[in-house]
Amino acid sequence: MIKPDAVNKRVIGKIISMLEENGFEITGIKMKKFTKEEAQKFYEVHKEKPFFNELVDFITSGYVVGIRIEGENIIDRIRSFIGATDPKKAEKGTIRNLFGESITKNAVHASDSLESAIKELKFFFED
Ligand code: CMP
Repeated sequence: MIKPDAVNKRVIGKIISMLEENGFEITGIKMKKFTKEEAQKFYEVHKEKPFFNELVDFITSGYVVGIRIEGENIIDRIRSFIGATDPKKAEKGTIRNLFGESITKNAVHASDSLESAIKELKFFFED
């Protein structure tokens, strides 16, 4: 998911190009704005964390872009491609290294397991 900071920076196209150029198979794209309730549900695993409210406020502050990608070992592949959660720690050339500015404004999110992917994809795609 491309987050509001990256949408505001007008790098949706660059991020999608990077995915395509690196062999990721995109099978769905949808732009939307999360309601507060949706954002709370999307990030409910973090609801006890001190940063939860900040995270919900940020993710509802603008448009996000949900991108469905498919492939062998896709969770590990996309997570290494986007880089560490904190852009300062993200490896050079990763999406968060290139476009993230802080741990909250870190440009993108990627599902951390097949189970979360199934849950998170439903916020964007019916099938
Ligand atoms: P994301 O991959 O979207 O998953 C949860 C998000 O919570 C994460 O990216 C960060 O943007 C945010 N997050 C994680 N840890 C912290 C933290 N210590 N302080 C603020 N935000 C955080």
